[in-house]
Amino acid sequence: MSVDLLLGLQWGDEGKGKIVDVLTPKYDIIARFQGGPNAGHTLEFEGVKHVLHTIPSGIFRPNVINVIGNGVVIDPIILQKEIEALDPFGIDIKQRLLISRKAHIILPTHRLLDQASELSKGKAKIGSTLKGIGPCYMDKTGRNGLRIGDLEHPNFPELYRELTDKHLSMIGFFKVSLEYDLKKLEEEFFAAIESLKQLTFIDSEDYFYHAQKEGKKILAEGAQGSMLDIDFGTYPFVTSSNTTASGACTGLGIAPNQIKNVMGIFKAYTTRVGSGSFPTELFDETGEKIAQIGREVGATTGRKRRCGWLDLVALRYAIRLSGVTQLMMMKADVLSGFDTLKVCTAYLYRGETIEHFPYATETEEITPIYTELKGWSSDLSAIKSTHDLPKELLDYIRFIEKEVEVPITLVSVGADRTQTILF
Ligand code: GDP
Ligand code: IMO
Ligand code: MG
Repeated sequence: MSVDLLLGLQWGDEGKGKIVDVLTPKYDIIARFQGGPNAGHTLEFEGVKHVLHTIPSGIFRPNVINVIGNGVVIDPIILQKEIEALDPFGIDIKQRLLISRKAHIILPTHRLLDQASELSKGKAKIGSTLKGIGPCYMDKTGRNGLRIGDLEHPNFPELYRELTDKHLSMIGFFKVSLEYDLKKLEEEFFAAIESLKQLTFIDSEDYFYHAQKEGKKILAEGAQGSMLDIDFGTYPFVTSSNTTASGACTGLGIAPNQIKNVMGIFKAYTTRVGSGSFPTELFDETGEKIAQIGREVGATTGRKRRCGWLDLVALRYAIRLSGVTQLMMMKADVLSGFDTLKVCTAYLYRGETIEHFPYATETEEITPIYTELKGWSSDLSAIKSTHDLPKELLDYIRFIEKEVEVPITLVSVGADRTQTILF
């Protein structure tokens, strides 16, 4: 078995980018398997912060191949910008970044459809990143989509026209006023397509088959989080792909029995961007304090993230869905300075105490039941060893491990690559 997974267990932004970067030296290949430029994965090292949307987070490490798998949806314009941002680092993109021919392409009209759909929903909007993710996956499952492999055929412009015309008539159905300059959008799109064509396209399932046969070590990098999974998340306030472990099999063409470690990553508290239920959300100054210390602002949209206490009901649910074998706790440093920390261990749901994540998750249906733990006051950001961690943090960790029955093997105490403590 040569494939490990790293998955976000909450509502995204757990710190996946940082940890993939930290773990990359142990792997030969890093692969994204779902989502698209709705993701914003932050890496920090040598005083510089990088945000990746489509490119896997192993790209800065030498001798590692990064693959954008078939399950990903690619916006050529955003990908081009990401590649341009890497220019100063002298990375041989053609050799180090491989793209599946079966990955779907986000067209400018997918973004317009996303906007039209959200506008038409009014207050009930999903809070989408408006990157065209939902409409692109709809075309994929509706069997209308355009894929990277189509760029190798001379009739791509006709295929593009046909689908775009269809989208334009669909936009009309939403009955919303949307202003756009299609000509400009298309110029930008086709310029990006020309750059994209210079990159390396592969039959990634075949590539992975041979890589595994040669004993190469593969790390699959999840995007979003388990609670945004299209099947198991807080539907309809979710994204349009499977963010849980199964998504790695379909999004890369890797068989389930090839998967070894499933690393689940969570923040020491909880955040969420966009609409949808969030049982432990805080609307008071404690929530505000977490947001401020944690700098909880979206890496893709710049929106403020909603903040709340750690929710072990949701975490347990996510762990079970993906068979998580080890946990990584992020942003422990943000919780320094709180006298008391609350952890939700069960829900009061329709008059009953439950420990599983229920079907109807509207926040008014759920009252979180909390256990209070003692906080710590020391600054964690310079700590390098478990021995120097405050007792209260170790108690917090042990409490979580006992509740969810999976060991925590890494604690992160700052955004930088080096601020990582292994257990
Ligand atoms: P991702 O989408 O899961 O990769 O996470 P994001 O990059 O969207 O959001 C995580 C944010 O937290 C980024 O700004 C990171 O630089 C930052 N971060 C990651 N780990 C830590 C940590 O342990 N402590 C602090 N304070 N910040 C962290
Ligand atoms: P990373 O990989 C946090 C959220 C959006 C919205 C919902 C649907 O950085 O953790 P979409 O654009 O997919 O139609 O949005 O999902 N969302 C994320 N939230 N982190 C992400 O990615 C997200 N990608 C999508 O805010 O609520
Ligand atoms: Mg993010």
